Amino acid sequence: KRPAGAPDRGLARPVGKVGVVGAGLMASQMALLFVRRLKVPVVLTDVDQSRIDNGVSYVHGEIDKLLGKKRISPDEANRLTALVSGSLDKAAFADADFVIEAVFENMGVKQQVFAELEEHVRPETILATNTSSLSITEMASKLQHPERVVGFHFFNPVAVMPLLEIVRAEHTDDASLATAFALGKQLKKSSVLVQDAPAFVVNRLLLRFLGEVLTAVDEGTPFEVADNALDPLGLPMSPLVLMQLVGPAIALHVGETLHEAFPDRFPVSDNLARFVRSGKTAVWQWDSEGNQTVD
Ligand code: CAA
Repeated sequence: KRPAGAPDRGLARPVGKVGVVGAGLMASQMALLFVRRLKVPVVLTDVDQSRIDNGVSYVHGEIDKLLGKKRISPDEANRLTALVSGSLDKAAFADADFVIEAVFENMGVKQQVFAELEEHVRPETILATNTSSLSITEMASKLQHPERVVGFHFFNPVAVMPLLEIVRAEHTDDASLATAFALGKQLKKSSVLVQDAPAFVVNRLLLRFLGEVLTAVDEGTPFEVADNALDPLGLPMSPLVLMQLVGPAIALHVGETLHEAFPDRFPVSDNLARFVRSGKTAVWQWDSEGNQTVD
């Protein structure tokens, strides 16, 4: 069944090579998913060689783990490993059909990445973004071919979470959108079409919920009480553990984007802002008795 709002799948173009810009956590997880499901060459790039090497090593290591769990055969592991490479030079994307960026969540940085990509790729190559909250229309606004830009938003951990938010920006054409939906299907994700609105749909719901927990902490509720209050609902992770998985800086960024758009509905947590500014990475720590405490 065609997902609601998806264009005719006959318009989709084949994807024979994928480029991933950024080699951090989400980008590397996406590269693994693309190579595993599409079995096409996947090239990663980043701002320096060591980040690229780390990203490629992560993907190769995960392929080894799949082999260890007997999910893939030794032949397939070799084939997949050989399909993943890294390059500092975006010219490696010249023959890519689909390039997705997962770089720092900053509009200027992302616009710059897309502008550079446009110098290297074909006019119809799809430029996708995994942004959690930024406007895709604004991201595409300085391009010669904004019609090939789509939002393609995965959830962490990418290998496990079934949902994919596909975003149609103001100028996205039907062929690009149809290709995005066809890819989502090949990746075995449940794709939903969402509007190009701040934080789309899922993060808006998530931040509303996380925001209430953080506000309770800001107002003096002990960290463990606020974080564990919803345990009886059987959530796979408590809200602040989930925030640690997503990354506190990303959570703050999404929260700030939403606060700017809807100041009354999305307060920014003082504790979270202070925590991210401090440069620490763990939101909680264990005390001498083994209890979780706020850092
Ligand atoms: N990376 C990759 N794979 C992971 C993983 C990770 N961080 N964590 C778990 N997995 C894999 C495991 O390898 C395992 O795979 P196999 O079955 O193939 O062996 C599978 O997931 C289940 O793992 P576990 O049995 O160890 O763990 P679990 O049952 O406790 O589940 C979980 C772990 C799937 C992460 C679960 O806790 C969960 O669903 N948590 C909620 C995650 C969530 O809501 N994510 C959305 C975040 S919002 C976001 O990402 C949007 C944004 O823009 C900010």
